[in-house]
Amino acid sequence: MSRKLKILAFAGSLRRKSFNKRVLQTAIKGAQNAGAEVTLVDLRDYPMPLFNSDDEAAFGIDENALRFQGLLTEHDGFLITSPEYNGSLSGALKNAIDWASRPSDKYQRSDVFQGKFAAIMTASPGSFGGVRVLSHMRDVLTSIGVYVLPTEIAVSFAGEKFSGDGEEMTDERTKGVLENLGAALVGMLRKTHGEIKFMSNTNS
Ligand code: FNR
Repeated sequence: MSRKLKILAFAGSLRRKSFNKRVLQTAIKGAQNAGAEVTLVDLRDYPMPLFNSDDEAAFGIDENALRFQGLLTEHDGFLITSPEYNGSLSGALKNAIDWASRPSDKYQRSDVFQGKFAAIMTASPGSFGGVRVLSHMRDVLTSIGVYVLPTEIAVSFAGEKFSGDGEEMTDERTKGVLENLGAALVGMLRKTHGEIKFMSNTNS
C-alpha cells in the first residue's frame, strides 16, 4: 500500500488576515484535490526568538524551533508563501528557516530540508505582486538542499482577489493557477516518492 504524500504549508506573514495565508489556502486545495495530505501551520503558533548563536550555545535549540523542525522532518514537501518586505523575505520566515536548519539532538539534519520539494508563492496589494521575493526564497531554499519547482506565482493586486477579508479567492483565473501549483507539487512528489511503500506483509 502506498503512503499518502504529506505536504507542510506555511506562510511568512504573521498578520491575521494575511493575503499570503489566503493565497496559500488556495494552493492547498489544489494539493489536496491531487491526493496529498496537507498540514497547514501558522508561524504565529511557533514564536521563536531571533536566532543568536550565543543563546543557542547556552540554551540549545529553541523549543518552538524544534517543534517546527519536527514538522518539516515529517513532511515530504512544502507549500510556502511569503510577503515581500522591502524586496525580500519576511524576517519571520527567514528566522524560522534559520532555526530549523540548525542541528538538534532530536532530528537528523539531513531529514529536515534536504532533497525535499517546495512550491513558492507571494502576494501583495501592489502591481508587482511581491515578485522580487521569489528569487530570494528560491536562493535560501536551494542553499539548504530544497528543490524548488520552476513554476512560481506572484499574486498582484491581492486586495482585489478576495471579497473583503474573505478566505475564498474570488478571482477564478488566479485561483486556477494557484490550485495547479499545488497539484504540480504533488505530481513532482509522486514522481520522486513513487517507490515509498508501506509493506502490508513480507511477501508483498
Ligand atoms: C511591505 N509591503 C511591500 N509590498 C511589496 O509589494 N513590495 C515590498 O517590497 C513591500 N515592502 C514592505 C515592507 C514592509 C516592512 C511591510 C510591512 C510591507 C506591503 C505588503 O505587500 C503588504 O503589507 C502585504 O499585505 C503583506 O502581506 P500579507 O501580510 O497580507 O500576507
